[in-house]
Amino acid sequence: MVTTVTTYQNWIGGRWVPARSGGTRKNIDPASGEVLGIFPRSGAEDVADAVNAAREALDAWRAKPAPHRGEILFRAGEIILRHKEEFAREMAPEMGKVLKECRGDVQEASDMAYYMAGEGRRCFGQTTPSELPNKFAMSVRQPVGVVAAITPWNFPMAIPAWKIMPALIGGNTIVFKPAADVPKSGWNLAKALEEAGLPPGVLNVVFGNGGEAGAPLVEHPGIDLISFTGSNAVGRGIAVTAARLGMRIHLEMGGKNAIIVLDDADLDLALDGIIWSAFGTTGQRCTSASRLIVQRGVLDEFTQRLIARTEALRLGHGLDQDTDVGPLVNQEQLTKVSGYMEVARQEGATIACGGGIAKVDALPKGFFFRPTVLTDVKPNMRVAQEEIFGPVTAVIAVDGLEEAIDVNNGVRFGLSTSIYTRDVNKAFRAIDGITTGVVYVNAGTIGAEVHLPFGGTRETGNGHREAGQAALDTYTEWKTVYVDYSGHIQRAQIDA
Ligand code: UN1
Repeated sequence: MVTTVTTYQNWIGGRWVPARSGGTRKNIDPASGEVLGIFPRSGAEDVADAVNAAREALDAWRAKPAPHRGEILFRAGEIILRHKEEFAREMAPEMGKVLKECRGDVQEASDMAYYMAGEGRRCFGQTTPSELPNKFAMSVRQPVGVVAAITPWNFPMAIPAWKIMPALIGGNTIVFKPAADVPKSGWNLAKALEEAGLPPGVLNVVFGNGGEAGAPLVEHPGIDLISFTGSNAVGRGIAVTAARLGMRIHLEMGGKNAIIVLDDADLDLALDGIIWSAFGTTGQRCTSASRLIVQRGVLDEFTQRLIARTEALRLGHGLDQDTDVGPLVNQEQLTKVSGYMEVARQEGATIACGGGIAKVDALPKGFFFRPTVLTDVKPNMRVAQEEIFGPVTAVIAVDGLEEAIDVNNGVRFGLSTSIYTRDVNKAFRAIDGITTGVVYVNAGTIGAEVHLPFGGTRETGNGHREAGQAALDTYTEWKTVYVDYSGHIQRAQIDA
């Protein structure tokens, strides 16, 4: 049987076009090695075309009343939901994660479309009394301009939607570069917005890799805001470039998230949350739980049960319904995660289970890594400090809540933390003391919803937030307006 592989194109100024160079890149299934599609391998010229198209479309889009922009987003939300199963079944093979998680990813994109559609009728500013009589004071939101959205491969549709939907409702136009490993999900999202009636040039999609398409996008003088989710190394590079060019940036980078398990925790509940948070998405979430900070009273029982649960996880293709954990996204990630096993050994940690590349019989080309629990880990070890981004979690023993909070906060990143306890006083003390951007009580480190702010402290971000009302602050600028209707000069601070 001959299967034909479809070739896809960039979306620039409302037209579907190949890369100017004619270059292409294969979309590969990380479990099977199968070629799923052919996408443009874009470069600086394609990026320039896309930025020009976005600039041309800006005036008309920002002039369109936000409620009407919202209607387009609402229709896009409906289209995404209508195609949910199909989009999820195309996502699982390109990204590797299991089908139910892919369904959640598509659902999150639709949730964000609906939420931001509603924002079209809010986009609240503030009105406030002036200190002078017969003077009116308010602040309103205006678009930032042309937004570059550069997104990662772990949430192929949700994270692009986190950026695109609020940017659109804010009146911005966009150049979107999806991660090279997951182009089809980005393409599906763009198609949904096209079908929803988004005018030409408002969203432009350029496929390609970071060095060839991402770098010229970040350097392009026609961009007003770069919104990036991905590694710290790349994010820092973007920050340096943006400082040089005077561009606005929104960065969402690494995490080293922890789950605290106190002696009084419901261990069954905690283990459910830990298996989901540490090994879901093969540990490739910014919010994955890669540290487990466990009070000594339950340490032995907890560790035994954790190892048993971890060893029972089944590896396989994301579309196979028996699969618990899919492959890593590519060879580079497999090499990186494998490398950390050596680091763990050298530092004196114990690899209590897993710890190596896995062979899955039917999928000899897959990038599988065995779910891994490290024990005897000290808070300052590299495996307890650095983001591994794979199915690896490190158990750290502590004496009590205060030490647990200190260990939790003692990393460069600050995205998500969870605590399991039945003591409400301890839960609230933890909420106070934990310094990450997201905190969960009696639930794992993952499970963010679109209508609340999402983002992290310290080196996880640069102070901006995705999602929730906070996303509007990322994708709009405040304009403060005073209207003096007194008919004579009134001097603030002087005539009061
Ligand atoms: C990410 O980890 O990169 O809360 C995003 C969650 C998801 C989003 C995660 N809703 O894990």
